[in-house]
Amino acid sequence: MSKTIALAADHGGYELKNLLIEKLKTLGYTPLDLGTNSPESVDYPDMAKKLAKVIETKQAEQGVLCCGTGIGISIAANRFPFIRAALIHDAFGARLCREHNNANVIVFGGRTIGTEVAYECLEIFLKTQFLGERHARRVEKLTHIAEG
Ligand code: RB5
Repeated sequence: MSKTIALAADHGGYELKNLLIEKLKTLGYTPLDLGTNSPESVDYPDMAKKLAKVIETKQAEQGVLCCGTGIGISIAANRFPFIRAALIHDAFGARLCREHNNANVIVFGGRTIGTEVAYECLEIFLKTQFLGERHARRVEKLTHIAEG
């Protein structure tokens, strides 16, 4: 069975999210669409939370989030200690967020990124492995950063 990738967006990001769903299908993944699917206004924290719950329950290991800028939905997603959401604008960031940060969610601004750039970044994100070693220590610190 192909790997499931969860996607969620607000009204500022749903059009890009829907394009990324089609891209994922062509790449052989199984997209799990958590909405939204209309221009009607929704709140990005609610959409980030939907995706976080799917990651937490292991219905998907990785996800994609989109809002207008990608900023609000990144902030929201990163409130969950098991989420490492990276707002990405270019191929270099897409590779490094996996290699160094073990990002499990890639975030795009639907009003800020070109579609082809988003496609390229998504592909890189999905095929790049975490490098571990010194990076694993730092990522582990992220999980516990607010404790004690
Ligand atoms: C919604 O208008 C907009 O604020 C949202 O999509 C996002 O850009 C927030 O960071």
